[in-house]
Amino acid sequence: MKVARITLSDRAANGVYADESGPEIERVTAGAFAEPLEWIRVVLPDDQAQIESALRRLADIEKCPLIVTTGGTGPSVRDVTPEATRAVIEKEFPGFGEVMRMHSYEKVKTAILSRATAGVRGRSLIVNLPGRPKAIGECLPLLAPAIAEAIDHIAGFRPRLAGGESTSPCRP
Ligand code: MTE
Repeated sequence: MKVARITLSDRAANGVYADESGPEIERVTAGAFAEPLEWIRVVLPDDQAQIESALRRLADIEKCPLIVTTGGTGPSVRDVTPEATRAVIEKEFPGFGEVMRMHSYEKVKTAILSRATAGVRGRSLIVNLPGRPKAIGECLPLLAPAIAEAIDHIAGFRPRLAGGESTSPCRP
């Protein structure tokens, strides 16, 4: 499965520090899916126009069934990942953000500051994750069954989960 991961961070994009969250997305996704994964790797500053343009390219031209972003979901002025995501999606799945916030709140009370969301553009599922590498391992595994189900509905194939679940609970 072709998967794009986009790290949104002014500092990572400007080389102030190394991007640790992008590689963490690859590690955690590889642990959650039994599917072979082909990665497209993007690091961008927190700039809404650049984020929107990357999301459009990865969905419309690269045709990635899954696009995962990390960072830019918080309260700072420069945090615009959810706004960029909403600008390009056709349908929103608020449940992704709700589950992340609910479960993360048990671990870190500031998790409610993340405005992460998810949605569909064409045949691509876009999922926002918070920026901290630790948050990726805390959030992404919770979402894997719904990611597989959503891709089945929108892209027409069902990525296999590492746990082995393969049939759709949504279809007879
Ligand atoms: N969620 C989890 N699971 N673990 C975390 O450490 N950090 C929170 C929150 N969600 C965190 C988390 C913090 S401190 C912030 S400010 C928001 O995510 C937004 O982070 P972002 O702007 O890097 O996306």
